[in-house]
Amino acid sequence: MERTLVLIKPDGVCKSLVGEIIKRIEKEGFKIVALKMVRPDRKKVEEFYEPHRGKSFFPGLVDFMLTAPSVAMVVEGENVIRKVRELIGERVPVEASPGTIRGDFGSDGRRNIVHGSDSVESASREIRCFFSSHEIFSYSEKDWLNSEPG
Ligand code: TYD
Ligand code: MG
Repeated sequence: MERTLVLIKPDGVCKSLVGEIIKRIEKEGFKIVALKMVRPDRKKVEEFYEPHRGKSFFPGLVDFMLTAPSVAMVVEGENVIRKVRELIGERVPVEASPGTIRGDFGSDGRRNIVHGSDSVESASREIRCFFSSHEIFSYSEKDWLNSEPG
């Protein structure tokens, strides 16, 4: 089963969009298997965005990521990497379709609410960046039925 790393960035947290974003992901039938609020320091943000190090936008991107906490989660499901990227939409909000997270809520090509991994390899690296294996849970939708009604 495929996994992806979703990061609700500082603007998404500050704009009170945590619930909205989780709702959209859950409505697609995906399963959240890890979740926490994080405030990564500069070194951690630079590690997370390592593939972009050296690009012109890198320093501004890192500064933005330090402005407030983010919410990190691991989401599991069939083709979840591609489908979450579709839910998120294009990087620049004016180019993102209405109904996508960035199209509906993004401010600009940097302050664009949410990150989703773009490949199996990036997902694996990004998940390890924020979660250790004991923080990622395994459960099924019927588990709660293994208890007596009250
Ligand atoms: P990128 O991987 O191109 O986009 P995506 O988030 O859709 O995978 O870029 C990563 C982040 O870097 C992007 O969400 C915001 C920031 N960024 C800028 O601030 N300016 C830019 O010109 C680019 C290309 C990215
Ligand atoms: Mg990217």
